[in-house]
Amino acid sequence: MSTAVRNIFVSSALPYANGPIHMGHLVEYLQSDIWARFQKLRGHNCTYVCAADAHGTPIMIKARQEGITPEQLIERVSAEQHADLKAFDVAFDNFHTTHSDENELLVRRIYEALRKAGHIYTKTIEQAYDESEKMFLPDRFVRGTCPRCKSEDQYGDACEVCGATYSPGDLIDPLSVLSGTTPLWKESEHYFFRLSEFGDRLRTWIKSAALHQNITSKLEEWFDAGLRDWDISRDAPYFGFRIPDSDNKYFYVWLDAPIGYLASFLQLCNRRDDLDFDDYWMAGSDKEAYHFIGKDIVYFHTLFWPAVLEGSGFRQPTSVFAHGFLTINGKKMSKSRGTFIKARTYLDNLDPNYLRYYYAAKLGPGMDDIDMNLDDFVARVNSDLIGKLVNIASRCAGFITRYFDGRLAGTLDDPELFAEFVDASEKIAKHFESREYSKAMRSIMALADKANRYIEQKKPWAMAKDEKQLPDVQAVCTEGLNMFRTLMVYLTPVIPAVAEQVQKLFNEGPWGWQAAGDPLLDHTISKYEPLLTRIEAKQVERMVEQSKEPEATGDDDETGGGDAKSPEITIDEFAKIDMRIARIEKAEPVDGADKLLKLTLDLGGETRSVFAGIKSAYEPKTLEGRLVITVANLRPRKMRFGVSEGMVLAAGPGGEDIFLLSVDAGAEPGMRVT
Ligand code: 2FM
Ligand code: ZN
Repeated sequence: MSTAVRNIFVSSALPYANGPIHMGHLVEYLQSDIWARFQKLRGHNCTYVCAADAHGTPIMIKARQEGITPEQLIERVSAEQHADLKAFDVAFDNFHTTHSDENELLVRRIYEALRKAGHIYTKTIEQAYDESEKMFLPDRFVRGTCPRCKSEDQYGDACEVCGATYSPGDLIDPLSVLSGTTPLWKESEHYFFRLSEFGDRLRTWIKSAALHQNITSKLEEWFDAGLRDWDISRDAPYFGFRIPDSDNKYFYVWLDAPIGYLASFLQLCNRRDDLDFDDYWMAGSDKEAYHFIGKDIVYFHTLFWPAVLEGSGFRQPTSVFAHGFLTINGKKMSKSRGTFIKARTYLDNLDPNYLRYYYAAKLGPGMDDIDMNLDDFVARVNSDLIGKLVNIASRCAGFITRYFDGRLAGTLDDPELFAEFVDASEKIAKHFESREYSKAMRSIMALADKANRYIEQKKPWAMAKDEKQLPDVQAVCTEGLNMFRTLMVYLTPVIPAVAEQVQKLFNEGPWGWQAAGDPLLDHTISKYEPLLTRIEAKQVERMVEQSKEPEATGDDDETGGGDAKSPEITIDEFAKIDMRIARIEKAEPVDGADKLLKLTLDLGGETRSVFAGIKSAYEPKTLEGRLVITVANLRPRKMRFGVSEGMVLAAGPGGEDIFLLSVDAGAEPGMRVT
C-alpha cells in the first residue's frame, strides 16, 4: 500500500426530491458508498457528499398537485430519502439541498464569473406555451406523435420507440401534459452558455480524466455531432434561483444541480476545521474529486459541468464514473409485476447487507446494466454470505468460547495458509479502487472456500472429542477465525454493519485496511452471536407482493392507477368535485385504442362524451342504459381520439377487474352525488 495519504472528494448524483428512493437508485448510492468507505478504510481523507435535487418544473407541479409549497415537498421527500439511504448504511459526510443559501451563493459566483469571461449571451427563442396553465412547457411536458416513426404519445425531446431525438415543435399533434390542450409557440429571451467554445479544453480534460471507454465512445459521438450552446434559463413560473438582474428568469435546474455537490461540501467545510473549500475546488487544486452518476446523465457531467467549472475559474473533476441501469428478473422495474421496489419496502422485509453484497457481486467499472434476478439474489446471498463466509466463524468460535474461555491461541496452525489471505490484500484493493467490485467479491469468496476446505479437513469437532488434541483445536480455530477476520476487513466497505458486529466479536475497535495483515493471537474474543441469517424465499415474495401496484397504462386511461396513496385534501377541495348521476346512452369501441371505450352520457338534458379505459372489463353493449357516477366539472381533455368531457368512477386494479360504480334504478340522470 502506498503510504501517501490522498485527499478525495466523492459525490453521488443528487436524487430529485419528488419521489421515494428505489432499488434502481440504490445501485448508485451503494456503488459510491462502497468506494468512499474503501478509501477511508485505506486511511485516506475522503469526503463523501450528496444533497436533495430540489428545483425544476416537475417538483413545482407535484407540490401544486399536493396543495403544498415546493419547500414543504422537498423537505418532506428529502428527509424520507435521506432516512432510507441511512438505513442502507450509506454514510454521507454531508447531505444538503440545492435549495440552500450555500448553493445560491455558489450559483451566483459561478454565473457572474462566466458572464464576466464572456461565456454567457442571451437570445430569443420560441418555446411551447400552455395558455390555460399560463406557463412555458419543458420538453418532457409535451407529448405527441414521433415525427420519424409515427409512434403516438412520445415525449417532446425523444422517441422511446425509435430513439429519435428532436424538439417539441417537431412532434405531430403535440399536447400539453398538464392540460391536454395544444400548446402555442411563444417567444422568450433565454440565457445561453457558450459550450461550443469549449471543445478543445474539454478534449484536454477528457484525456486527463481517463474516463471509462463506455463514456469516451459516447463523447466521441457528441463531439462528431458538434457541441451546441446550452440554454441555462427558464421562464417564470419556475422553482429555482432567479437570475440576477432579471425579474422573471430562473436558472435551469441542471445548472444549479451539480453546483449542489459543491454547496453540500461548502456547508460541511463551514463546520469542519480540517476541510477548506478553496483547497478542494478552486483551479489548481491538488485534491482529487470524483462524481458517481448514472449513464443517463453523462452529457451533463462530462460536457456542461467541466466546461462551466473551467469557464468560472474552478477546478474540474478528476474523473466521472458512470454505472448502468438496474433490471429485475431481466426486465425494467415494473409496478404491475411488483418489481418497482422502493427502498422502504425492501427494508421492511430484508437486511440491507444482502443487497449491498449482491450489488457489489454484480458491479463492474462500466455502464453495463446489471440484472437482479430475484431467485439468484436469494441463492447467491445464502451461498456466499451465509454458506461460505459466516460459516467460517460459526464453525470455529464456539470451541474457543467453550474450551478456552474465549482465548485465541498464541500461534496460527497454518501460517502459510494465512499468508495467502494477506497476500491477496493488494489485488483486492486494486479491484475496489478500479470499481471492479465483482472481481473483488470473487477473490474474497474464493478465499472463503479455501478457509472452509481447511476447516473441513481439520474437523475441529472431531478433534475436540479427544482431550489430548485440544491445543490443536485452539490453533485450528484461531487459524479459521483469523482467516474470517481478514476477509471481513476486506468486506468492510461492502457490509459495514456486519463488520461492526465482527469487531465486537473480536473485542476490537474500528479496523483500518492493514488490520487484515495482523493476525489476532493470544487475545480474548466475545461469545459468538449469529451474524446474518439465510434469506427465505417468502421474504422476497412478500416484498414483491407489497410492491405491486396497477401500472399507469399510457393509453389515456381514464381509470387512473399509478401512485398508491393520494395526498390529503381538505373538505373544501373535495366539495369542488361535482359528481352527478349519468345514464350511459351509448358505449362503443374506439378505433386504434386498446383500452378505451367511448361513452355517450346523459346528464339529465345534457349529453357528454367521455373516454374511459374500461374496455378490458366490459362488453360495450352491456353498459348501455346503466346509471353511473360521473365527475361533471372535470376540465375537458383533448385526447388522441377526441375530447373527453368528464370521467366515470370505477374501482379495481385493471384488466378484467375494473368495476364501474353503478347506481340503483330510481336515481335520475343529472342528480348530484353527495
Ligand atoms: O438525474 C437525476 O436524478 C438528477 N437529479 C441528478 C442530478 S446530479 C447532479 F448534477 F446534481
Ligand atoms: Zn419514433
